[in-house]
Parts: sequence; C-alpha cells; structure tokens
Amino acid sequence: MKTLIRNGHVIDPGRFNGKADVLIEGGKIAAVGAKLLVKGDNSSHVTVIEAKGLWVCPGFVDLHVHLREPGFEYKETIATGARAAVAGGFTSVCCMPNTRPVNDSRSVTEFILRQAASAKQAHVFPIGAITKGSDGNELAEIGELYDAGCVALSDDGRPVMQSLIMRRAMEYALAFNLPIIDHCEDLSLAEGGSMNEGLVSTELGLAGIPSAAEEVMVARNVALAELTGARLHLAHVSTVGSVRLVREAKSRGLAVTAEACPHHFSLTEEAVRNFNTHAKMNPPLRTGADVQAVKEGLRDGTIDGIATDHAPHAVQEKQLQFDEAPFGIVGLETALPLVLNLVEEGVLSSEQAISKLTCAPAQVFALPKGTLALGADADVVLIDPDHTWVVDPSRFQSKARNTPFTGWTMKGRVMKTIVGGEVVYDSP
Ligand code: DOR
Repeated sequence: MKTLIRNGHVIDPGRFNGKADVLIEGGKIAAVGAKLLVKGDNSSHVTVIEAKGLWVCPGFVDLHVHLREPGFEYKETIATGARAAVAGGFTSVCCMPNTRPVNDSRSVTEFILRQAASAKQAHVFPIGAITKGSDGNELAEIGELYDAGCVALSDDGRPVMQSLIMRRAMEYALAFNLPIIDHCEDLSLAEGGSMNEGLVSTELGLAGIPSAAEEVMVARNVALAELTGARLHLAHVSTVGSVRLVREAKSRGLAVTAEACPHHFSLTEEAVRNFNTHAKMNPPLRTGADVQAVKEGLRDGTIDGIATDHAPHAVQEKQLQFDEAPFGIVGLETALPLVLNLVEEGVLSSEQAISKLTCAPAQVFALPKGTLALGADADVVLIDPDHTWVVDPSRFQSKARNTPFTGWTMKGRVMKTIVGGEVVYDSP
C-alpha cells in the first residue's frame, strides 16, 4: 500500500525545505521530491493526499507528557492522551512515571507499552522513575527499566532532593546511556508556594515559589553532570537564571540539554491575577523578563526543544481555591499555534520552530523519530499555518479541560496526522 502526499511545502528541518511530494510505502518514508509519480501503479493502489497550501512535516516529538495511566484514569488514559497527542500533531510522546503505581518497574513499563500499542495512536515512550516510588530515597532498578523500554529516567513532579542519590542515579544511567531528567525545584525554598514569588504574589496574598528554587537545582545538577559525565536533561526551564546556567554549561561542553513549555513563553504571572487555577502549574508562570529569556534560549539553541508538560486534571480538582488546586495544565492540543507565534514574532524561523518540535527533541533522547529521512517511520503531520481557530476545550480529544487558553484565537492548525503510514487524525 502506497500513500502519496502531493503538492505540499515539506519542512524536514536541516534536510529539506520547499515544495515537494512525500511517498510512503510499507509504513516508511519511500521518497521526498518534486512531482513523484508512482510509476507503473494502478492508481487504486495509491492513496493520494492533496497538501496544497499545507506544510508537510515530521510528526512532533514531545519529551514530557503525563498520561496518568495506571492509577489516575479519571484524569486521562493512555488512549485519550495518545489521541490528544495526534490531534496536536505529536506522533511520539514520552510519558512521565508519576502514575499509581509509579513507573519504577518492568511490569508498569510493559503495561504502558501494551496500552499504547492497543490505542494505535501516537508512539508512547515510557520514562522510568529515578527512585523507587519516586520518593527520592532509594534508586529504582535502572537496568530493568532500560531493558523494559524506558528511554530516560525522572522523578518528575518532584525533584531528587538528595544530591548523593542524584549522583548515583547519574552514574548508573551513564552505564545505559540514559538521560536523567530533573524537575528542578528546591522543595525547602518552594514550600507552600502556589505561584511565582514576586510583586504579583504579594499583591494577591499568595505564597510564592522563587526563581531561585529552580535555579539552585539547575546549578546542582549541572555540577553533578560535570562530576559524572552523565547526560542531563532539564525539564520545563522557566527562569532567566536557569537559561543562563544551561547556556554556560553548554558552552563548557557538558552533556546538558533543556526543554521549554509553550505556556512559559506565552504567558506571564499576570495570568494568575483572577485566581484562575488553569494558570497554576509547576514551575509557575514567571515574569516578562523570564519569558524573554526563554525565547532567547530557544532562539540561540540553549533550549533544545519544546515540550508540553501536558498535565491533565479532572474538572472538580481545578475548581478549588488557587492555593489548594493541583499544579498542571493540558498542552498537547494547543502547542503548535503557540510555537508558531514565535515565528510571527520573529523569534524563530518556521524551520527552526518545526525543528524544536521534531528532530531536536528526538535527538535529546536519541529517538529514531522527528525526520522524513528515507526509510524512517512514516510519522507525518500536515499543517495549515494560516488557519485560525478558537480554543474550545470541550472539543479536546484529551479527557481533561484544564487549559488557560480557552477562548484564545489561534493561528495554525493540524489538518492530518499520520503514524506509521496510517492516518490517525483528520481535522473535522
Ligand atoms: O504542573 C505540573 N504538573 N508540574 C509538574 O511537575 C507535575 C505535573 C503533574 O503531574 O500534574
């Protein structure tokens, strides 16, 4: 079975940027080029997808999502999360281990992979816990998690507070060449905080989380990466100081990578003023200066990729007082237009923007994804960069509705998503 995506503008970052057709055969990319005729083929054997006016890109790769299964299926399941992923253009997602039970064992990793395979939507790459139960005290069975298919290790949602445990985790992870992802938050500095610490938190009477709570842990982790030689990936970088520390670490040649989330370059702490719990996430929304630093980090390559930190919660969980509501917002179905805003603003070129969603994150975890190279899995997204639409969470494929972007007019829409040569999402 062959599929021909015809007349689109192909953006395969670093490889091709221009008008071309894409031919898919046997679930793989078979050719990218001008006017690909499927020679000798009876047209009934070729599915033709017309892509005039659309961008044809590698499917997006999200290094940071919470799919909630097992244990919190009322918030999201692997199937609903994977459907939300492909609706947002993501054909590969890496899921954090803060489920119940925590993904600290082969059985949980294998369960996740089985559920993902039966959902037949996005590819799901599990991230294993650094410590048993992610409680920060005893290392998980890292070799077992690697064997079972985990692509990285993290206690995300929580930091690894004990530096010696983090050092040992890095040493073990190195033996398997697995990246260690830290949620950088010094819990003693952040304790009790529910938003960024600053003028706005003082005016609102809410306890704050200072930038330093993130930055001291970024600095510690960089020091430990230098000590051990480990691959360190910093999740959801949100402050001026964190960007500066990552830039300096990279300039010294350390194996340090970083991601930023769309909400951290699209919103500031001002979004908390009406006590909207959909503006509550961890790390919190920061100041305008922090937003600028994150954008500059994306522009100059300090921040490798864009990850959503898709964190679904049930409606009733967010209908609480601001300081009592859980941290987290959904992100898979709104990421693309927020990234394209950076193109409109002149921060990134369109090719750079697509690279931050595709080959750059794939490279961070060494995933064979995010490319339209010949022979690669045919994971492809068709985008209408000019299509405007209004965010209506009731139309999300995700089970959850907790977005701060309700009612926003967005520019840029996923029209079709293809995984392994099969169309898994078609925009209504
Ligand atoms: O906002 C967040 N939500 N930050 C995290 O680190 C965890 C996540 C969640 O699991 O809800």
